[in-house]
Amino acid sequence: MIGISKAPARSGQHGTCQRAVFLLSSPRSGSTLLRVMLAGHPSLFCPPELNLLPYLTMREREQALGSCQAAQCIDQGCDARDGLLRALMELHTATADEARDMVARWVERDMSTAEAYSELQRLASPRMLLDKSPMNAATIDTLKRAEQMFEAPLYIHLVRHPYAVIESLLRQRTDIAAAPEPERLAEKFWLVTNSNILEFLRQVGSERRHLIRYEELVSNPSCTMKALCTFLGLKFDEAVLTPYQGDRMTTGLRPHTSALGDPNFLKRSKIEPRMGEVWKQVKLHHQPAQATMHLALELQYEVSA
Ligand code: A3P
Repeated sequence: MIGISKAPARSGQHGTCQRAVFLLSSPRSGSTLLRVMLAGHPSLFCPPELNLLPYLTMREREQALGSCQAAQCIDQGCDARDGLLRALMELHTATADEARDMVARWVERDMSTAEAYSELQRLASPRMLLDKSPMNAATIDTLKRAEQMFEAPLYIHLVRHPYAVIESLLRQRTDIAAAPEPERLAEKFWLVTNSNILEFLRQVGSERRHLIRYEELVSNPSCTMKALCTFLGLKFDEAVLTPYQGDRMTTGLRPHTSALGDPNFLKRSKIEPRMGEVWKQVKLHHQPAQATMHLALELQYEVSA
């Protein structure tokens, strides 16, 4: 991944942020849907992709991030920095320009990303912050930083069948579709991110990690979300089952645009259980790598040679 800092958190950053929740997944695993479902819970603050954890400082982040590569994102001109702006707009009841000015000041004084998280947590309090940024799983170093920066954070590992993720990436990501071996590259995204998450979570106590299968989330949302609320230490709230109701930061910075995440999210109007079955129709043109087959089986996904 481009521009991700490998350095550990600065020494002063250790454990400076309160407990937060990290929603970890490969791209195209239904993370926007889960984020928006959780955004209905009154005890959580769940903004679109913050893309803070891969960087140590706001200046580093500013230099590394740019426009998104999903087909619709290119059309809409959205940018990987927009999730933070959207969060600040919500927390300050501010316009996009006002939020941009705030972040420009943070960049100007090269504020640490730990401070940025703390500020979001202060403003969102007493709600717990949930960070859903698929970029966080790109390297284990980034994931380790969550342990250094936050007090005993909680992790949700959202998984989806590799065939469905590969098919979705090929359809949505112009950069992947234009690569010499697009299908293999898409497979690598699934493999690397899920391997990183699993390896990282092996070092984390079982009481702080929770696995969710996209296929179960969409086929049995009630059961899945009840178990998830229990894991998060929250009372179950029916609002988590109605992602298309109320204001949940699903719109972007400009009118008629979507928030950072799945650009197709607003084209649907309910949780669609049939999406959990699409992997069965996917025909790959190559034989997946052994490592992919092993990991898929470890995650109890059916894959055929
Ligand atoms: P598809 O390209 O297969 O449609 P992410 O948010 O992690 O990028 O994941 C995007 C995927 O979430 C989409 O992949 C879609 O299947 C799924 N998704 C989004 N909204 C959904 C809904 N309302 N019901 C079921 N699945 C949904």
